[in-house]
Amino acid sequence: MRIDKLLSNMGIGTRKDIKKFAKDGLVQVDGKVVKDSSQHVDPDHQTIEFDGEVIRYREFVYLMLNKPPGVISATEDLVERTVVDLLDAQYMPFEVFPVGRLDKDTEGLLILTNDGKMAHELLSPRKHVPKTYYADVEGIVTEEDIVSFKNGVRLDDGYQTLPADLVILQSGDVSQVEITIVEGKFHQVKRMFQAVGKRVNYLKRIQMGALPLDPALSLGEYRELTEEELSLLKMME
Ligand code: URA
Repeated sequence: MRIDKLLSNMGIGTRKDIKKFAKDGLVQVDGKVVKDSSQHVDPDHQTIEFDGEVIRYREFVYLMLNKPPGVISATEDLVERTVVDLLDAQYMPFEVFPVGRLDKDTEGLLILTNDGKMAHELLSPRKHVPKTYYADVEGIVTEEDIVSFKNGVRLDDGYQTLPADLVILQSGDVSQVEITIVEGKFHQVKRMFQAVGKRVNYLKRIQMGALPLDPALSLGEYRELTEEELSLLKMME
């Protein structure tokens, strides 16, 4: 690919800027200054540097975010802070977006990527990708609730959910549970508990497909997926 295209894709500047930067000697390929910005390079096999820094070119970026409460799962918003606002400027050129949505007050695992095909596959209702949440629920969660969720519950709009797996970690005035659903209706977990007369007062996604949230990530922290994690996600495609 042309070096000016590569560098502009990486957010270094416009092609016109890069033409000038190359003339000024700021662009190097395999240690040699390249003055002609139309030159072709092979980013997989050549080392490309701009102003002394190695440019790691890739088409797609995959990030795991531990979403904090109070930010919305969108790329931009006039009023609210979005998950994309949490990212470092180096990720801006990639134009990542969240794969699905977590409510503003929900925490936990959110994947951000610019790989539209992969996002589409993960979100496809046909694929039934399991998503596991930890929840604090007001009131005593019972064995009957487990059975109801296994059979699917009827939501407020009449929709009958697919079977969901409910695990009671602790039952009490506020119960602690884990729930795995294979679809992604609006406010689904909260509405499923509403259907059995209970209220979720804390919700955190802890797994998507075979990919668990890295417990080392604090709220608001994120990192790129490793190759192994990416293949765990791709197993769902
Ligand atoms: N279910 C909900 O109710 N909210 C979320 O954010 C995710 C699943």
